[in-house]
Amino acid sequence: MKKVTAFVGSARKKNTYKSVERFLKNLQAFGDVDYEIVRLSDYNLGICRGCFLCFEKGEEFCPLKDDRDVLMDKIMASDGVIFATPNYSFQLSGLMKVFLDRFGFAFHRPHYFGKAYTSIVTQGIGGGDDIVKYLDLIGNSLGFNSVKGICVTALDPRTEKDQQKIDHAIDKLSKRFYATLVNPAFPEPTMFKLMLFRMGRTTIKQKLDDSSRDYRYYAEKGWFDSDYYYPTNLGLLKKVAGNIFDSTANTVRNILA
Ligand SMILES: Cc1cc2nc3c(=O)[nH]c(=O)nc-3n(C[C@H](O)[C@H](O)[C@H](O)COP(=O)(O)O)c2cc1C
Repeated sequence: MKKVTAFVGSARKKNTYKSVERFLKNLQAFGDVDYEIVRLSDYNLGICRGCFLCFEKGEEFCPLKDDRDVLMDKIMASDGVIFATPNYSFQLSGLMKVFLDRFGFAFHRPHYFGKAYTSIVTQGIGGGDDIVKYLDLIGNSLGFNSVKGICVTALDPRTEKDQQKIDHAIDKLSKRFYATLVNPAFPEPTMFKLMLFRMGRTTIKQKLDDSSRDYRYYAEKGWFDSDYYYPTNLGLLKKVAGNIFDSTANTVRNILA
């Protein structure tokens, strides 16, 4: 059984919610899937004050007492996650952005390896494709196995043909997402992902020390010495490339020092 959780950034049970519902029901038709739809408007989320305590000292030092950890625990308990939002003023809804800012520290200390992720954006007219790109970046940065999301245009009144187009896009995404959900959770990284990891971790090792929470997180995870975030068979080419990425980060650091 796979557990999938959708986080919905609209206070209405309309376009975004209904798209998510269709998507999740499709997954259930494909296999043994249990799902939960989390409406962010049902939770208490504070607005990040920008104190940097989560980055520097640790997330437990956050001065906001809200439902952040309840929601993060739901992600952790899931095999797959969907972030779904309406397009508001050519961007995410405020609800979704407040939610993302609440775990900004997880972009420094990625948590969600082995979990499938995608996004659904609904809009009236246009501009939503950039939001999908942004949500793809979010998924990749948090460590998820990210499946490129979709934007559906759901303007009212809508014809049957308009609705069929929306349903078709959701159905296609469900298939792609399900394939990732049931595939090996820890795939070999692409060359680009490997480069980001190796250059990032080498820079953290050189620039920070034990007083930094990011440094300690990397040390605890063994990431200063590992091939990648998780055990994986890199193969010769990627092993060599990984060493080059480490030494490039070292060289850049020495030049800038
Ligand atoms: C405050 C607000 C701003 C919006 N801005 C845009 C926009 O910039 N571009 C767009 O295509 N649709 C925009 N819309 C339309 C919504 O994105 C669209 O109706 C969406 O499907 C609503 O989702 P919901 O039914 O889940 O609430 C806006 C709607 C609202 C309420």
